[in-house]
Amino acid sequence: MSKNKKVLVSGIQPSGTLHIGNYFGAMKRFVELQEEYESYISIVNYHALTSVLEQGTLAENTKNAIIDHLAIGLKPDTLFLQSDIPEVTELAWIFNNLVTVPYLSRAVAYKEKVERGLEATVGLFDYPVLMAAYILIMDADIVPVGQDQKQHVEIARDIAEKFNNRYGELFTLPNAHILKDVAVVPGIDGEKMSKSYGNTIPLFAKDDEIEKLVMKIVTDSKGEKEKKDPATDTVFALHVLFSAEELEDIRERYKNGQIGYKESKEILIKNIKTFIAPLRTEREKIARENKNILETIQQGRERAQKRAREKMKKVREVIGITF
Ligand code: AMP
Ligand code: TRP
Repeated sequence: MSKNKKVLVSGIQPSGTLHIGNYFGAMKRFVELQEEYESYISIVNYHALTSVLEQGTLAENTKNAIIDHLAIGLKPDTLFLQSDIPEVTELAWIFNNLVTVPYLSRAVAYKEKVERGLEATVGLFDYPVLMAAYILIMDADIVPVGQDQKQHVEIARDIAEKFNNRYGELFTLPNAHILKDVAVVPGIDGEKMSKSYGNTIPLFAKDDEIEKLVMKIVTDSKGEKEKKDPATDTVFALHVLFSAEELEDIRERYKNGQIGYKESKEILIKNIKTFIAPLRTEREKIARENKNILETIQQGRERAQKRAREKMKKVREVIGITF
């Protein structure tokens, strides 16, 4: 890897089946940017532990998430499991002593998760600190994420500044990298698409599943010949991602009352199917050919471990743990 490449770091929780919101909000960019940046992409299983407590489910989701990332074209040597870098959890403890409870109490993701019924564990509360530890231990320059993670990256930046002020310049200040158009991909109910809202279209969905889910997308009740607003319609928001060539035509037909939601959904189904089919084939091939998926990403693990170990050695020195 070239020394002067900037460093890209990101992660995805293995907390359920990955969906098109994850893909367009984050995963797609991992692939697009992997040559331009020195990239580290982690399946963050210790993060998922804040919401997935069933052992079999966590293991299964983790395995699937690795295969999913390889299937979209991520190079195996950029991928690793968070739990293979224990230095991350070690660093999180150190950061816990820099961050105050009132400061962390302002994190909106925590409040939202608790409002939705997740137990208010210390782990859930401390989630942003673990995330900061992972981002900072890798010395990330950019962190590609969806809009919902912007605050978490800012917290990482604050922690880096606080640490640097106290102990000397050690950590790079990271920047979130968010694409406007796909900052929030809506789910079939019009809310943010999310594994925990039951409103997703899985990234590797089968054809019949795609049909069923798209037909369920909630729209207003305007009739076929009525003028429709593309800016507020969920079906149209998904056309933006899947129907590039027809987009302007569909937009005009919306505005002029020349298309019904049924036809709009049928076009969307056709385009999502065309998009997903080759990904699904690739995924099946990788699953078939890589019986031991952890072996496939061994290089990714070793690369990340080396980087984290070197950084952690310096951290222990500057805080006075090793002498
Ligand atoms: P998570 O599923 O929470 O681990 O999210 C993994 C990545 O996907 C993060 O960068 C999120 O910001 C992004 N993401 C998740 N849901 C969406 C969505 N509906 N729209 C855009 N990005 C998303
Ligand atoms: N919190 C992120 C999410 O829910 C996942 C994540 C954990 C992450 N650690 C990260 C993303 C570090 C980017 C960088 O989507």
